[in-house]
Amino acid sequence: MNSISWYFIVLLFSLSLTCSSASTLDDDTNNNENLVECLYQYSNNSTSTSKLVYTKSNSSYSSVLQFSIQNLRFETNTTSKPLVIVTPSEISQIQATIICSKRHGMQIRTRSGGHDYEGLSYVSEVPFVIIDLINLSEIHVDADNRTAWVQAGATIGEDLFWAIRGGGGASFGVIISWKIQLVTVPSTVTVFRVARTLEQNATELVHKWHLVANKLDDNLTIRIILQRLNSSSSSNKQGSLTVQATFESMFLGTVEELIPLVQERFPELGLLKQDCSEMSWIQSVLYLGGFSSNESPQVLLNRTQSSVFYFKGKSDYVTVPIPESGVEGLWPLFYEDEAQYALMIFNPYGGRMDEIPESEIPFPHRAGNICKIQHIVYWVEEGDDVAERHMNWIRRVYSYMEPFVSKSPRAAYVNYRDLDIGVNNKNGYTSYKKASVWGLKYFKNNFNRLVHVKTKVDPLNFFRNEQSIPSLLPLGRK
Ligand SMILES: *[C@@H]1O[C@H](CO)[C@@H](O)[C@H](O)[C@H]1NC(C)=O
Ligand SMILES: *[C@@H]1O[C@H](CO)[C@@H](O)[C@H](O)[C@H]1NC(C)=O
Ligand SMILES: *[C@@H]1O[C@H](CO)[C@@H](O)[C@H](O)[C@H]1NC(C)=O
Ligand SMILES: *[C@@H]1O[C@H](CO)[C@@H](O)[C@H](O)[C@H]1NC(C)=O
Ligand SMILES: *[C@@H]1O[C@H](CO)[C@@H](O)[C@H](O)[C@H]1NC(C)=O
Ligand SMILES: *[C@@H]1O[C@H](CO)[C@@H](O)[C@H](O)[C@H]1NC(C)=O
Ligand SMILES: *[C@@H]1O[C@H](CO)[C@@H](O)[C@H](O)[C@H]1NC(C)=O
Ligand SMILES: *[C@@H]1O[C@H](CO)[C@@H](O)[C@H](O)[C@H]1NC(C)=O
Ligand SMILES: *[C@@H]1O[C@H](CO)[C@@H](O)[C@H](O)[C@H]1NC(C)=O
Ligand SMILES: *[C@@H]1O[C@H](CO)[C@@H](O)[C@H](O)[C@H]1NC(C)=O
Repeated sequence: MNSISWYFIVLLFSLSLTCSSASTLDDDTNNNENLVECLYQYSNNSTSTSKLVYTKSNSSYSSVLQFSIQNLRFETNTTSKPLVIVTPSEISQIQATIICSKRHGMQIRTRSGGHDYEGLSYVSEVPFVIIDLINLSEIHVDADNRTAWVQAGATIGEDLFWAIRGGGGASFGVIISWKIQLVTVPSTVTVFRVARTLEQNATELVHKWHLVANKLDDNLTIRIILQRLNSSSSSNKQGSLTVQATFESMFLGTVEELIPLVQERFPELGLLKQDCSEMSWIQSVLYLGGFSSNESPQVLLNRTQSSVFYFKGKSDYVTVPIPESGVEGLWPLFYEDEAQYALMIFNPYGGRMDEIPESEIPFPHRAGNICKIQHIVYWVEEGDDVAERHMNWIRRVYSYMEPFVSKSPRAAYVNYRDLDIGVNNKNGYTSYKKASVWGLKYFKNNFNRLVHVKTKVDPLNFFRNEQSIPSLLPLGRK
């Protein structure tokens, strides 16, 4: 995607020391009553405020909290819950929530409702308030100028502009909207999904894919999804189990253009015309999102999840092709019980990703990457022991992968948050050294610049979580 001219809007608040002094209160009840009073004080309209403040005594509190939780690991009876949920419809309400939370010694967690693998946007071990942006979701498209506004607000200074574009917005404030540049797509695109089991040379194909994945035509992307499957043939050595590699692709062009391209670069896949479907771009979004391409695009607006499971995700980057023996060594892990609903997803890099310099925005994973791997394991039964078994399984996969993936640092993708790679101190100051353990993996050398921006705009570290950018200012120590 073209991301050269992103604009954005961030809300900040006064960082005065006096503001945070009135923070020690007797208990939760006192705390949230005072916070709610404060919210009413800051509003000029108590009718509108009453519609967006949910305390634990509100009958809708649980349903509003649960609505955007996509990982049952953070929806248990021991998961810590917010004292108050605020669902702002205007920017002034966000400002009031930030001011009042700070005054009453509470952390804020800001939730947009998308990817959040570790629940950082709605769980905290210290008293906290959720700012849930569910009702700030308007999109205005300016087709003539090829831009789109995704909500509105007020702008601030340019360093910070760099930092929030991939630096983990939650470290710097509350991001209200983005202006994004749109790119044109042809009226017809082509998709395919071709599955190969171990008996159909999946091991060799996964290896061969690494040799071409980031060097395909700029209009073509092919990713791999690995999962365990019950085999229909009993000839494989693990009895009824096998592993399937699904090659899933999107091509900005017609099937006639696609076939010779794949034939030339990746003939081993044996792609046939009948494996492919031509459709409009929006239909391809439905197809790749797991819907039928004939469904109405309206289904994409439905924010109610059809099924929510427990899961744990991790990520890796590959810079040197994984040898066939390396791929093969994964299969015994996939035959273990915990792998029933496990996936490994290989997303190719190259193309536009390679053209952007590493320091252009905080996201640093550019030229030299063959692909990003997402390791993910789902489970359906509740209980700490079940969770523990599945978490251990994925940690063993991660450990097995070490020789085949990026090193010094072993890079990770911030949008697949993984608290295993390091966390800040729960309370008070976190040193640069401690935070750089996880920070360099997500941001490489851009981490240093993010720390400098943070120290300037939020020196006392109000906007913080388990993996927020630390401030260098020792005043944040208290
Ligand atoms: C309330 O009104 C005052 C004075 O008109 C204004 O300055 C302030 O921004 C308003 N507050 C909110 C939350 O709208
Ligand atoms: C207060 O907000 C409500 C809706 O939330 C609106 O109907 C009403 O007109 C507002 N009152 C004032 C004085 O702005
Ligand atoms: C939550 O409960 C309070 C007190 O009963 C009420 O004033 C408020 O309107 C409720 N909030 C919502 C969003 O329903
Ligand atoms: C939490 O849920 C578990 C499993 O359902 C149950 O065994 C336990 O008693 C519950 N704990 C509390 C404090 O409700
Ligand atoms: C979002 O806004 C709509 C319309 O004002 C309202 O009906 C709904 O309750 C709001 N949702 C939440 C979660 O506050
Ligand atoms: C495109 O942008 C220009 C300047 O930014 C503006 O004057 C013009 O009205 C915009 N076009 C449309 C169709 O909004
Ligand atoms: C990609 O497709 C566009 C049309 O959608 C075309 O203009 C462009 O030349 C193609 N790029 C390559 C590398 O084939
Ligand atoms: C697997 O590869 C071998 C040669 O490498 C080939 O003969 C065979 O047809 C392939 N099998 C499938 C199902 O593609
Ligand atoms: C595979 O077979 C086992 C045992 O028959 C069954 O429990 C499991 O659900 C099957 N898995 C899939 C993916 O079909
Ligand atoms: C949204 O999706 C949920 C879960 O799949 C479904 O139950 C619900 O009917 C859908 N709502 C609409 C309006 O389609």
